Amino acid sequence: MEMETFDLERQQSLWEHRVDVNMSESGVEPLTLNGLAALGFDLEGLHSVPLEYIQSNGTPELRAQLAAHYEGATIEHLLATTGSSEANYVAVQVLVRPGDEVMAIVPNYLQVGLAARGLGAVVHDVPLLPGADESTWSLDWEAFEAAVSERTKLVYLSHPNNPTGHVFTPSELDRIAAAAERVGAWVLSDEVYRGAVHDLLPGEEAPGMWGRGERVVAVSSLSKSYGLPGARLGWMVGPPGFIERCWSRRDFTTIAPAALSDPIARFATEPSNQERLFERARRMMRVNRETFRDWTGEQNGVIAYREPRAGAYAFVPMLENGRQADCAAFAERLRRNRSVLLVAGRWAGMPGYLRFGLGLEPEAFAEGLRRVELEIGEGVAS
Ligand SMILES: Cc1ncc(COP(=O)(O)O)c(C=O)c1O
Repeated sequence: MEMETFDLERQQSLWEHRVDVNMSESGVEPLTLNGLAALGFDLEGLHSVPLEYIQSNGTPELRAQLAAHYEGATIEHLLATTGSSEANYVAVQVLVRPGDEVMAIVPNYLQVGLAARGLGAVVHDVPLLPGADESTWSLDWEAFEAAVSERTKLVYLSHPNNPTGHVFTPSELDRIAAAAERVGAWVLSDEVYRGAVHDLLPGEEAPGMWGRGERVVAVSSLSKSYGLPGARLGWMVGPPGFIERCWSRRDFTTIAPAALSDPIARFATEPSNQERLFERARRMMRVNRETFRDWTGEQNGVIAYREPRAGAYAFVPMLENGRQADCAAFAERLRRNRSVLLVAGRWAGMPGYLRFGLGLEPEAFAEGLRRVELEIGEGVAS
């Protein structure tokens, strides 16, 4: 079966390093090795790390440290991967067969639905609906219950959600897990933004899916909340038998995590360092969120503000004469005319919206907004 184009990643791959202002990123401004060293990372130690294939499912030290973040998990429940994208991909490879049904909560990052469709599965999208006030989203529970059937093999959610920033409550997560459990389906919960809930207090944790059912898999990585996407280090936590099958699948993809990324990951996921990195991300997101809110108020109703609760992005409708506009055309024009890259909602499954990255340095963020405003001044329609 032909794989469809993964538009979001393709557009970013093509343009993110060629535009003046990249507002398409969904994580915060990445740290450097020097930045990590300032937090206490042993930079000298990296010089003597053998550039070998490390233990291909992740070193026992790293897996033990990651397991400690998931109640009841042991190193057998953990597989270290090359980013959460590899974790998602091998999970789909293991769980989905042609003709299977997959249920995905949309909008989302779209990787899992596209990979499942590429394997010949039928993907049912169930929407998150914008609430009447500017900060809420809610799952269409009726559509959700209708979409989960005996034929469903996999339920996918991006939680906290990319791109809306929606965070489910623990009882909502239980409800999703229970619906999957009733029909024997697996739940794949993509939790790369779990450390990036804006208003968490230090030490507080957003709810996750782990532990809410027998067939629950959660994935995460260093890329978003930790600010280390270039380390390309992710992981999944799941039942040991499932983890074994994913490990043998990843023998076909990247074999092992990068040797240099293992000490970085062990440093970053150590609890006190983790908290400092999460707090750094939250601080950056909160500052730009305020700037963004004020800016939308000055756009004569063309951009309707919606407050994200998580993630380094804001997902907002663009309006023309009170109706949602063709945001993909606007995003294309903006890139061509102003050298600014935004994410068109269509690339996340919700046309009519734009996703603004909130993780930039404040000056770059303000410059991006200035250019978007200039382009809005030329009219919304292409
Ligand atoms: C929800 C979500 N999952 C997974 C990924 C992939 O990230 P990585 O492979 O760097 O962990 C992204 C990247 O934007 C994402 O937004």
